[in-house]
Amino acid sequence: MNQPLPASRQTKALVADASGIAEAAALLRAGGLVALPTETVYGLAADATSGTAVAGIYTAKERPSFNPLISHLPDLATARRQGLFDANALALAQAFWPGPLTLVVPASSGCTVSDLARAGLPSVALRVPAHPVAHAVLEAAGRPIAAPSANRSGRISATSAAHVLADLDGRIDAVLDAGPTEVGVESTIVACLDGAPRLLRPGGVPRAAIEHVIGRPLVIAGDAGHAPISPGMLASHYAPAARVRLDAEAPEDGEAWLGFGPEGREHAASLNLSPSGDLREAAAHLFGYMRRLDEMGRKTIAVARIPEHGLGEAINDRLRRAAAPR
Ligand code: TXA
Ligand code: MG
Repeated sequence: MNQPLPASRQTKALVADASGIAEAAALLRAGGLVALPTETVYGLAADATSGTAVAGIYTAKERPSFNPLISHLPDLATARRQGLFDANALALAQAFWPGPLTLVVPASSGCTVSDLARAGLPSVALRVPAHPVAHAVLEAAGRPIAAPSANRSGRISATSAAHVLADLDGRIDAVLDAGPTEVGVESTIVACLDGAPRLLRPGGVPRAAIEHVIGRPLVIAGDAGHAPISPGMLASHYAPAARVRLDAEAPEDGEAWLGFGPEGREHAASLNLSPSGDLREAAAHLFGYMRRLDEMGRKTIAVARIPEHGLGEAINDRLRRAAAPR
């Protein structure tokens, strides 16, 4: 029954137990839209093999339709039916799957991911998530599942079921609630298309860990001679309503404050990503804290300087997008 679903729907809140997982998989198989937990962020999932189902994602998110989506699979064996893995791609998949890494590889001749999910490209973005609930749904669905972050386009990525509902209630069929996500920033995206692997988006697997596996520095997409090939990397992407001021020493009058590391100061509208200066904890809190500070209605959120190493690269990437002029 791949009928187009009505624009306005009742969004069911499903508990992530055996029956909730079975119902989520059944909805996906029927062409529905279900927000699923992954270890990075909640994904807005649909049957990647159905152009109609995938179209629903773009409608619910109000996402520009030229953005290709990540297809999620339960394991490397099913992923290898969809894409062609060269030696680097295989080494990276073996090192980091299941986990917060997405590989962009040439689509195989038997690739069943729809043209719409691939935005017409000859490549396909594949990920095997580590979250046990995501894994169970993917097993039960038995097909690649497309899932961008479960937020409206241009808004902050959802790291809890409540965040999903704040953006998408009435627009999707269900949200499968498994509590807050662990990693908090999206997967690292690496393209293995023609020789040197390229970093398309920093994320949950730090760059140094990837470079260790491939034994050389990653080429950064957008470097001289390499046009950015990930059209989803719009400059203004992770956007709160407030203006965002980066690398701040301290909040100015009237500003909300997003801190990092030990701080002596008291401030009314402030949250600290990690008082102990732990980048993993900071990544897990990033989107939720941005939302909470935004809800305080201040004109500007001032953000402390975050170190650029490890997960700090992904955190700073998201913060720069949040601060980009729009
Ligand atoms: O952690 C994550 O990756 C989350 C969870 C839900 O898995 N998903 C996610 O998906 O962030 P999405 O759709 O928001 O990000 C997809 C990114 C975009 O930047 C898109 O342009 C890029 O992947 N992408 C997808 N297919 C591509 C391709 N064939 N070539 C280049 N970039 C591609
Ligand atoms: Mg997103």
